[in-house]
Amino acid sequence: MTLTASFAAQSATSPLGPHQITRRSVGAKDVQIEIEFCGVCHTDLHFSKNDWGMSNYPVIPGHEIVGKISALGAEVTHLKIGQRVAVGCFVNSCHVCSSCEADMEQYCLSGFTTTYNSPTQDPGNFTYGGYSKRIVVDKHFVLTMPDGLDPAAAAPLLCAGITTYSPLKHWGIKAGMTVGVIGLGGLGHMAIKLSHAMGAKTVMITTSESKVHDAKRLGADDVLISTDPVAMKKMLNQFDFIINTIPVPHDYNPYMWLLKVEGTMCIVGAVGPNAALNTQALVFGRRKIAGSLVGGIAETQEMLEFCAKHHIVSDIELIKIQDINQAYERMIKSDVKYRFVIDMASLPE
Ligand SMILES: NC(=O)c1ccc[n+]([C@@H]2O[C@H](COP(=O)([O-])OP(=O)(O)OC[C@H]3O[C@@H](n4cnc5c(N)ncnc54)[C@H](OP(=O)(O)O)[C@@H]3O)[C@@H](O)[C@H]2O)c1
Ligand SMILES: [Zn+2]
Ligand SMILES: [Zn+2]
Repeated sequence: MTLTASFAAQSATSPLGPHQITRRSVGAKDVQIEIEFCGVCHTDLHFSKNDWGMSNYPVIPGHEIVGKISALGAEVTHLKIGQRVAVGCFVNSCHVCSSCEADMEQYCLSGFTTTYNSPTQDPGNFTYGGYSKRIVVDKHFVLTMPDGLDPAAAAPLLCAGITTYSPLKHWGIKAGMTVGVIGLGGLGHMAIKLSHAMGAKTVMITTSESKVHDAKRLGADDVLISTDPVAMKKMLNQFDFIINTIPVPHDYNPYMWLLKVEGTMCIVGAVGPNAALNTQALVFGRRKIAGSLVGGIAETQEMLEFCAKHHIVSDIELIKIQDINQAYERMIKSDVKYRFVIDMASLPE
């Protein structure tokens, strides 16, 4: 077992600060990784502040992890010491249920083990995430990093990238389709880049007029300001697919009417009860509302290769771990450009 420096939230109201954790010894199937970079997802903030009522403290967030291998178990033969690898949103699943057999570990019927805040046999009894110096992970859940991806800018691919890639892929996004992306934050900016690379006409749907220029720079063909009722009316029945990244409960109805007949809006943002859904847009147009959770391990590796091929990484602001609380404040104000990534060298041993 290794004593490991980390940054933790001790309660819903306390800022994150230094905290020592113990990582398990490296087992036969394990990979120990020295973390170089960790992206900052809005989910980290939800868990730090117990927004979803399921946080177990101390919470050590972080599930966009890139680092180098420092130790390998005897049964890990496909990886090498010193190799750059990555870990995303989960670190274990049952391996035998129908979802796991279909490479959809994220929908494991026995419940998957998230990278932080899940029950575990490890010291501490709950998993601890990437705001730490090192992590020990079962080899099945370790991704390899393709050459050519900047390691800091690639870290957000491990959540923001796969969470948007997976539904775009599942709904067959391609040239000739019109895709709407709601919310220009970490997930949203990856959705624009990926949808654009898949060939679709991509429209940014934002509350922030100040982000219009950036949205176009990131690959949006057009921008729709969702707070402008006249502009919203002009775009009724235009979209084959909308990916909704809004992190808080909100009214779905104005967005549902933007869909073409038989179009789908996929929720990847706020999880939990939401405002009442008026079923008119569904019934009068066979429109659909769906959800999606990150992506499986094989699909995440496929997404990394896709990003390397298309030269896609995240637009990041590299921060020190000591700046994490200010980064959260900015995230709450929708002031993220467009993903914070922590340089873990800033965390002393
Ligand atoms: N399903 C999954 O697997 C999965 C994976 C990762 C994250 N998530 C969740 O996805 C959500 C987004 O995460 P993120 O890291 O992308 O967050 P983020 O970087 O904070 O971006 C969210 C964006 O949503 C828009 N927004 C915020 N409040 C809004 C409101 N009240 N009404 C309309 N738009 C609003 C803002 O964009 P504009 O300024 O452009 O309006 C904001 O920048 C979070 O809830 C996170 O927990 C889900
Ligand atoms: Zn995330
Ligand atoms: Zn399973």
